[in-house]
Amino acid sequence: MCGIMGYIGTEKASPIISKGLKNLEYRGYDSVGVAMLSALSGSLEIRKGVGKVDDVQNQLKFDELDGNIGIGHTRWATHGTVSRENSHPHTDCAGKVAIIHNGIIENNIELKKMLLSKGHRFSGETDSEVIAHLIEDRMNSGDIGSVDSIGSVDSIGSVDSIGSVDSIGSVDSVGSVDSVGSVDSVGSVDSVGFVDSVGSVDSVGSVDSVGSVDSVGFVDSVGSVGSVESAESTRFGSCFEDACRWAFGQLQGSYAVLAMVEGADEIVAVRKDSPLVLGQADHGTFFASDVSPFLEWTKDVIYLQNHDFVVARKDSLRICNLIDGEVDRPVDTVEWSVEEARKGNFEHFMLKEIFEQAETIQKAIQQDREVVDRIVQMIQEGFGVFFVACGSSYHACMTGSYLMSKIAGVHVNVVLASEFENYEHFLTDRTLVFAVSQSGETADVLDAVKAAKRQGSKIVSITNVMGSSLSREGDELLMMNSGPEICVLSTKTYTSQVIMMVLLACALAGEDEDCARRVKELYMDVHNLTSKNMRERLRNLASLLVGKDHIYMIGRGLQYTTAMEAALKVKEVSYIHTEAFAGGELKHGPLALISEGTPLFVFVSRENEDRIISNAQEVKARGGYVIGVSDWDNPVFDYWIKVPDCGNLNPVIQAIPLQILAYELAVELGLDPDKPRNLAKCVTVL
Ligand code: AGP
Repeated sequence: MCGIMGYIGTEKASPIISKGLKNLEYRGYDSVGVAMLSALSGSLEIRKGVGKVDDVQNQLKFDELDGNIGIGHTRWATHGTVSRENSHPHTDCAGKVAIIHNGIIENNIELKKMLLSKGHRFSGETDSEVIAHLIEDRMNSGDIGSVDSIGSVDSIGSVDSIGSVDSIGSVDSVGSVDSVGSVDSVGSVDSVGFVDSVGSVDSVGSVDSVGSVDSVGFVDSVGSVGSVESAESTRFGSCFEDACRWAFGQLQGSYAVLAMVEGADEIVAVRKDSPLVLGQADHGTFFASDVSPFLEWTKDVIYLQNHDFVVARKDSLRICNLIDGEVDRPVDTVEWSVEEARKGNFEHFMLKEIFEQAETIQKAIQQDREVVDRIVQMIQEGFGVFFVACGSSYHACMTGSYLMSKIAGVHVNVVLASEFENYEHFLTDRTLVFAVSQSGETADVLDAVKAAKRQGSKIVSITNVMGSSLSREGDELLMMNSGPEICVLSTKTYTSQVIMMVLLACALAGEDEDCARRVKELYMDVHNLTSKNMRERLRNLASLLVGKDHIYMIGRGLQYTTAMEAALKVKEVSYIHTEAFAGGELKHGPLALISEGTPLFVFVSRENEDRIISNAQEVKARGGYVIGVSDWDNPVFDYWIKVPDCGNLNPVIQAIPLQILAYELAVELGLDPDKPRNLAKCVTVL
């Protein structure tokens, strides 16, 4: 999904935006663009191009742009090809309004049709561009649409122009009116400051006094508006802000939008089902898809809720909710340090995050005892437990269901979040749904949570990002404590999720102490897996595999789910077709894929050694090249990766060498392990 960033304050915006986009690049790297409001000319400057942040930034020199107000976007294409025209920011016909968007506008086709019929010209094929033209369309209408009837109004600050008013019950005081198209009837008006022009007034009950009105300020208090039957917009605010509020009201789907306009020192934003957070610093306000882009400047963050509408100026910040009205959003403090979100001495985030696992695994087991006890009780008292997730998190859930069955004797249904709707009719208010997502923003998982809540089911959220949507959706929350994971591939968060599954299963079985001791013992085993020797051995294996078109992996039980995760890592980052099968399935079809030299990984544990080794022999018999992942060598292996056998903790210890192998394959193939093609760190659209 795309990364969006904005800044308004006293600092020069362009370097802040460029740096922020660099930190957001893991969310999408097809094209990049910025818009700045020049402090010198007051004009809107847009620069955008296809490619990664560094390349486009060097080519288009974003940092040259002056101004203290700016927005920036890094794109992951969903609607429209990867091109300059489809890059954000998008503008209106006049190039005066600029918007950036993350999400999908589901009704973009009908909105575009309406705008085209009104003469708007579109420069790209994206769904997002309609937003700029909607704002323009509203601003060009200029007038406050027509007002059917207003019950009674205590006081109105000032009005630019009112299209037409059917009837006004009574008005205590009106600051001043620029022009009123036509007024059918006014009950009584106590005082009107100054009226520029009134088109026509049918009847005015009584007007006490009239003041004067030129432009639209923001009216904090509209005493009581009896009823506003259909008024396109009866709110009085800055024309741009109004137009944005109206335009955002037309959108359906998921969206986080930042908008700017020439001539207004403000950024207007909205979020619905796409992540957007605010950073507050003494010198200004930051907007971003997550906290990492502005950690360098501030740790004070405001997590926006769905339908929150923000107007940020250099000296003020206003948040209201388009559904609930005025809201008060608290300022939280981010625990993560800037360093954690940096590569340090590592060439890539992927390697850094793999090397962090000896520590992160220990942090994953440090959970609030009371929360774990409550969750154990929910499982015991509930009727039906579901684990719901996507990608690597789904593989951790698969492993979790095996562990729940093996250790605690509890049955768990594991369902891909995107397939969860097929199970909704099984859900009741006694069902317990574990929603697992490192980013906490995966749209399919959030959608599954909505479906479960519709049936009254209880939710346990397991996530790595405090303040993420999922962290706020659950009845109970377990944080993974892995620290920021920047590489698109999940590595440390996968092993942390598995450790949390072990913790829950042991807690259910009342074997907590033994579990905690065994995880502690894992520290050195995990640390040793990142040794120079091991890396050398895996680098050597990578050089044997780089030319292969297909790689297969097998395992039984916990080793089968580990094979699934290992296959995902290799295919994600090397683009080599890699597939995992349950060892027992081999003879039911996949064995046909094996020919001379076909590489097959076999994950072995003491528990099911005989059977899985005989599967490996069946492959060997067809000329396959067998790579063993196990604690001891075996004649069937053509290549052996020595990994200690840790029983139920094997899904952690056996996954790590394959993460390193995937990394070495990518480097060997000259690919970027942190930003594989066509992928993004969190998928915020369905
Ligand atoms: C894994 O390496 C991928 N990044 C991807 O499959 C990921 O696990 C999936 O998108 C789920 O992400 P989440 O845990 O943030 O929900």
